[in-house]
Amino acid sequence: MNVLVTGGIGHVGRPAVARLLAHGHEVRILDRVVESEIAAEAAAEVDGAEYRQVDITDYAALRPHFEDIDAVVHLAAIPDPIPGKDAEILAINCGGSFNVYQAAAENGIKRVVSASSINALGNGFGVRPVPVHYFPIDEAHPGSTSDVYSFSKQVLEEIAAYFWRREGISGACLRFPWVFDHRWFQSEEHNGFRALFQAMADELLALPEASRQTHVQASMAEMEALRAQHERGEITDEAMFAAVREIPAAMLSFGSRDFWETLDARDAAQAIEKAVTADYTGSHPLWIVDSRNSAGLPTRDLASLLYPDVKTWTQPVEGSESLISIEKGRALIGFEPEYSLGSEVAL
Ligand SMILES: NC(=O)c1ccc[n+]([C@@H]2O[C@H](COP(=O)([O-])OP(=O)(O)OC[C@H]3O[C@@H](n4cnc5c(N)ncnc54)[C@H](O)[C@@H]3O)[C@@H](O)[C@H]2O)c1
Repeated sequence: MNVLVTGGIGHVGRPAVARLLAHGHEVRILDRVVESEIAAEAAAEVDGAEYRQVDITDYAALRPHFEDIDAVVHLAAIPDPIPGKDAEILAINCGGSFNVYQAAAENGIKRVVSASSINALGNGFGVRPVPVHYFPIDEAHPGSTSDVYSFSKQVLEEIAAYFWRREGISGACLRFPWVFDHRWFQSEEHNGFRALFQAMADELLALPEASRQTHVQASMAEMEALRAQHERGEITDEAMFAAVREIPAAMLSFGSRDFWETLDARDAAQAIEKAVTADYTGSHPLWIVDSRNSAGLPTRDLASLLYPDVKTWTQPVEGSESLISIEKGRALIGFEPEYSLGSEVAL
């Protein structure tokens, strides 16, 4: 197939392009970066793909690049909420996404796969809490966004549904958690984090339940205060991470907003390639996360510490199995994490 990948030289894009090429597809990358400014290492990762520089917010410039294309992978976006950049995030993540689907429709393309996010649920960056009704969370769980990045992903999923209804463009909006490069997870820095995490969990789980919850609540409150300062641009990423290390139980609450979900970039690439080629109709938000939590701890213990009010479990969750279900992704596109952190975790 001829596959067009927007944002194809980004963090998620490079392994996805490499996988599509390895599976025999022709790949055309669209990205706004000037070609001569792409780092040599990044260019090497996508070697074999055609590169075209274009800004997805410019529809007239974008449309011609969709000729002779069979399927689109849409990744171009601002991938985080950035203080003071709400208008730009909406213009690119929503307006640009609409342009991509519109250009696909006008060129008769019937498959578009997009990167949504775990943040479509609204929990990670939201300034208002998202009620968790049950575990494991599936695609039917209601979301409630309250920051512009998360909202842009909710809108993206609506754009995809609109183009299915109107134009018969099938596809999936892949709800990724933090997508990591496995080289980072093998680093000393990460191993240090995990040891800290384990020590805090052991300490907390050894406390009687009543004081355990008081301890966790106090840490959560401190974390929220830090988060708010970070959101207002008052502290840098580095300052926040340094402060987090000093808060008791912070490492546990740190991952809790994303339900301790992560994904190896090679598994994100697998999901993208399968969502492009699998035989299905309709427009589908899909949870694409690791099948194991990244904390390396028993999932029910994590949930009892940070989500003590959630009493409904719709499926059994054993060992370090995820709090987010990937059953729909398994059934629809045959997704199965191949680089699960679970394989490295002794429980
Ligand atoms: N990395 C993650 O952990 C993660 C998690 C969940 C979802 N996502 C989503 O996956 C997608 C890719 O994220 P990433 O981490 O690779 O981000 P990235 O910033 O590394 O890559 C995004 C690419 O999009 C390009 N781009 C941005 N605006 C553009 C525009 N107006 N026109 C053309 N190109 C433009 C950038 O130049 C960049 O190459 C995004 O949609 C992001 O929201 C990422």
